[in-house]
Amino acid sequence: MNSRKILVTSALPYANGSIHLGHLIECIQTDIWVRFQKLIGNQCYYVCADDAHGTPIMLRAQREGITPETLIAKVHEEHRADFADFAITFDNYHTTHSPENRELASQIYLNLKEKGHIISKIIRQAYDPVQEMFLPDRFIRGNCPHCGAEDQYGDNCEVCNRTYSPTELKNPVSAVSGATPVEKESEHFFVNLQDFEPMLREWTKSEALQPEVTHKLNEWFEAGLKPWDISRDAPYFGFEIPEAPDKYFYVWLDAPIGYIASFKNLCAKQGMDFDEFWGPDSQVELYHFIGKDIMYFHTLFWPAMLTGGGFRKPTAVFVHGFLTADGHKMSKSRGTFINARTYLNHLNPEYLRYYFAAKLGSKIDDVDLNLDDFLHRVNADLVGKVVNIASRCAGFITKRFEGKLAAELHNATLYQQLIDEGNAIANAYEQRDYNRAVRDIMQLADKANQYIDEYKPWVIAKQEGQDAELQAVCSQGINLFRVLMGYLSPILPVMTQKVEEFLAAPVTWQPEPLLNHTVQPFQPLMKRVEQKQIDAMIEASTDNLAKAPPAKKAADKPKSNDPIAPTIQYDDFAKVDLRVAKIVNAEPVEGADKLLRLTLDIGEEKTRNVFAGIKDAYDPEKLIGRMTVMVANLEPRKMRFGLSEGMVLAAGPGKKDLWILSPDDGAQAGMRIK
Ligand code: 2FM
Ligand code: ZN
Repeated sequence: MNSRKILVTSALPYANGSIHLGHLIECIQTDIWVRFQKLIGNQCYYVCADDAHGTPIMLRAQREGITPETLIAKVHEEHRADFADFAITFDNYHTTHSPENRELASQIYLNLKEKGHIISKIIRQAYDPVQEMFLPDRFIRGNCPHCGAEDQYGDNCEVCNRTYSPTELKNPVSAVSGATPVEKESEHFFVNLQDFEPMLREWTKSEALQPEVTHKLNEWFEAGLKPWDISRDAPYFGFEIPEAPDKYFYVWLDAPIGYIASFKNLCAKQGMDFDEFWGPDSQVELYHFIGKDIMYFHTLFWPAMLTGGGFRKPTAVFVHGFLTADGHKMSKSRGTFINARTYLNHLNPEYLRYYFAAKLGSKIDDVDLNLDDFLHRVNADLVGKVVNIASRCAGFITKRFEGKLAAELHNATLYQQLIDEGNAIANAYEQRDYNRAVRDIMQLADKANQYIDEYKPWVIAKQEGQDAELQAVCSQGINLFRVLMGYLSPILPVMTQKVEEFLAAPVTWQPEPLLNHTVQPFQPLMKRVEQKQIDAMIEASTDNLAKAPPAKKAADKPKSNDPIAPTIQYDDFAKVDLRVAKIVNAEPVEGADKLLRLTLDIGEEKTRNVFAGIKDAYDPEKLIGRMTVMVANLEPRKMRFGLSEGMVLAAGPGKKDLWILSPDDGAQAGMRIK
């Protein structure tokens, strides 16, 4: 059979945040598909990139006091490391802030313009007069015009779920400066989407879309296609629009072009023919894996841009559902919004690859992560079924036969049964029905285990004169294991490598049996998932500010000689209100060995009562009149001795060596710490 040529992409993650399990489900889905294609001999390329433009990235860089270029470079390295550690192997991982993308975005825009698909209109928009910038809807907050809920986004209310325009919001404020936005006019450029409606309707009828997606598209056609606003005014982090000073391409214009740019960058590195893949008549298969939230961009705007820009259209767009946790949206307060790195700090990435594969189908249904189910499935299937086949046979081959496998299969029919199932499993992978592939593979693993249970090598091993039988049964078991690992290898590439080392032979799709072959001593392939690893991951993912504040255990605090605690975001720091406080009274607390009761003046009418564990270090009388720094917005904590309304900052290893500020140098109570 001729090998197919395929180009595959996953959606580009924004360069202003960490990779989390929501990104991973998509990239794992894609990576499995790509690995499967490569395994069966197709020529398949997988490209992706960081989505590096837009207002949130510009503002985050401003807040951190760095350039957007520095920010996106830092995030790029983090993203690459996270993906690599989940064994997601891109052929190229680029950035949309690249010379290739700048050139391609301009080229596509100019082609659209030349063909008359770009129109210009004056629009009125919210403007921050202090920051001197137009405000995207999500940077305006105010009261919902329908239910009155406070602090809602400019376009929809999270309380009553209604949508509205930012101009309807009551008491609007800019989330950037806190100023009241004003309305201002400006010229914007639009792609006239209606020009492409006949082409889009035709494309929808092809094999390009899942039935649910076609259905959605038909709804959009009925509602009427509207011109798409592709320009943003300065200041904006992105590419300037040719011949339009101070106008920038909207991030969603150049984001998908980033797919092409990443591939172009790969072509330059590997000397491939770019036009063969992206030219208007390309015969190469092109697939985009995306989440259902960005369907509109990929099934309407993107084919329109490609057609108008002079490029080929995707062969298909593969849409998946959202990742939920225990049936809910992933949540920071419940600890189910899990970053890739946090997961990696506690658990083996292949557990997650397997679990996602076991749940993913070709529909756009949401996929639920249930951590009890996760633990059970990984332990029962991978450790209990698959690895078990090898571990029950390998020891005998090593100890009794110097690693040598038998010259013939003990049960060639059973071996062939496993090989024959390969076509159905391949079909399931091809259709992205990984849950079906996994179910089939596990049924075959059950068969292999039944075979071993029937012959019981551990019993044969004790019988005189049964060496040949023992070698034959164990060799059969190892060969069955190898077939199964071939089927599982797109899902478990790291374990596959270990298996190849053990077998001293490649793990391939539908292999010929290994006979008269010497294997290496068996090493453990995968450990069981422990509940405590999951608990630790949840704890590390739980946003303590978002849940009822538990008393922090002393053991969790960094010790003075610990390395610097994990990095926090500027937003976390900005939540802490630090004030200079004057100690107007300090006295011992009856029944508490280490505590002093401090009365603090922070310039409010009322003083604050704070219990501080500094009794070993200070004579209370000597503290009166001194200045310290306190966290003024810490949630009050009920203690045995009364309410503690904040926390004073002190330095030192503890006991007597604990210091607070030296006498006043002009500091005044209530001063904000900058
Ligand atoms: O929704 C997102 O996270 C976008 N960064 C996805 C972009 S995908 C593609 F179009 F670039
Ligand atoms: Zn509302």
